[in-house]
Amino acid sequence: MQNDIKYVLVSEEKIDEINNRLGALISKDYQGKQLLVVGLLKGCVPFMSDLCKKITIPMEVEYMSVSSYHGNISSSGDVKIKKDLDISVKDRDILIVEDIVDTGQTLKTITELLKYRGARSVEVATLIDKPEGRVVDFKPKYVGTTIPKEFVVGYGLDYNELYRNLPYIGVLKEEIYNK
Ligand code: IMP
Ligand code: MG
Repeated sequence: MQNDIKYVLVSEEKIDEINNRLGALISKDYQGKQLLVVGLLKGCVPFMSDLCKKITIPMEVEYMSVSSYHGNISSSGDVKIKKDLDISVKDRDILIVEDIVDTGQTLKTITELLKYRGARSVEVATLIDKPEGRVVDFKPKYVGTTIPKEFVVGYGLDYNELYRNLPYIGVLKEEIYNK
């Protein structure tokens, strides 16, 4: 698995720092609010787990599964809800947790949907932002780190469902997805 990685872009140490920083910031910003953290499956899982342990205020957890990818390396722009929330979001302060924002279509669609359903506020925490990939106007409030337009895997991020279990984030060798 390691042989398929061109280089490490975000190390385990850097990921720890990000989780500590964002966890403290979110705990401060949501003090006194009814925080509902919504993870987007499956990519959010390692980040969601580590980040939530750094949030020191009461919070609830829910998951949604959405996809705009069909096993390729570029987004299709057609966002499908594969698993919806089990609870009402009316008057809740929602923080969506996502692995990466690229075109912005997934997060823009889900943010608008949850607002339409009556959430009081909807913000996004993403481990990685690729602002050069944007095709819609969308700015996540909490960003772990910003990277150039590279296809990355690890720490939840996949290529054809593989590499999610790498403990760091690395750039995948082009020969893997060009073969
Ligand atoms: P967006 O709607 O284009 O912002 O797509 C976000 C989704 O695309 C993420 O949740 C990932 O599943 C996927 N994605 C975007 N860039 C990458 C990448 O570099 N590696 C793996 N998945 C990615
Ligand atoms: Mg994803």
